[in-house]
Amino acid sequence: MKVIVVGASGATGKLLVENLLHEGQEVVAVVRSADKLPEKIRTHKLLTVVVGSILEFSDEELKKIVANGDAVASCLGHNLTFKGMYGYPRKLVTDATKKLCLAVEHASVNKPIKFVLMNTAGNKNKDCKEPISFGQRVVIGLLRLLVPPVTDNEKAAEFLRVKIGQHNAAIQWAVVRPDNLLNDQAVSAYKVYASPIRSAIFNAGQTSRINVAHFMADLITKNNIWQKWCGKMPVIYNEETQRS
Ligand SMILES: NC(=O)c1ccc[n+]([C@@H]2O[C@H](COP(=O)([O-])OP(=O)(O)OC[C@H]3O[C@@H](n4cnc5c(N)ncnc54)[C@H](OP(=O)(O)O)[C@@H]3O)[C@@H](O)[C@H]2O)c1
Repeated sequence: MKVIVVGASGATGKLLVENLLHEGQEVVAVVRSADKLPEKIRTHKLLTVVVGSILEFSDEELKKIVANGDAVASCLGHNLTFKGMYGYPRKLVTDATKKLCLAVEHASVNKPIKFVLMNTAGNKNKDCKEPISFGQRVVIGLLRLLVPPVTDNEKAAEFLRVKIGQHNAAIQWAVVRPDNLLNDQAVSAYKVYASPIRSAIFNAGQTSRINVAHFMADLITKNNIWQKWCGKMPVIYNEETQRS
């Protein structure tokens, strides 16, 4: 398979690229700086590095990047700096998702590609009944006003859920929702649910980035896992923290 990874230089993106290469998949890593990729990834024979800022590629350039791809994975996120959170682009994840989907739709594909978006357990899947408490609704409302990336993550997932939908001829999608992210060194037991099993605000669980990368790679490469979660927004927790 050929997999295009955006946000490939990020903490989770690097792990996803490494996982896919290890599985023998061809990877196109889109990064702002190749130096941010570890040496062993950068020099891997199955890796192609495309250097540039995802929102600055023209539609034509993006079409070439996604051409002949089997899957696109996004691990994009706003850098946790004042500029990353409050500067521009405010809609990094949403606009990148839209541009990549447009490029896929315009590239001639003979089968739908998989689009896997890394998102957050703080976001709701409106296709499911995901009740949240009044308190959580208030806090999320405030976060939407005060922390622009919250809305960006919500809109990116909503674009796939509503605009791409369940019957798009060119794109099938899954939105992966981890809870608080941890940096662990090895994959550990994790569980995946259709909806959150705990409050992402008042009783957050934990999810290792390496487990997120493992699950995203499984979605892309394993058909039974894809069939289970295609068009859905799976929530992933490390096993030892899944219970409230
Ligand atoms: N923190 C948490 O506990 C938590 C929990 C659940 C979900 N999430 C979500 O998980 C996602 C990824 O998390 P992470 O920790 O792996 O992210 P990360 O390490 O911060 O990586 C972010 C990636 O996005 C890229 N990026 C940032 N700003 C960009 C811009 N303006 N143009 C192009 N690329 C840009 C970065 O590129 P550079 O390397 O070039 O900067 C990097 O590749 C985020 O969407 C986040 O909201 C986070």
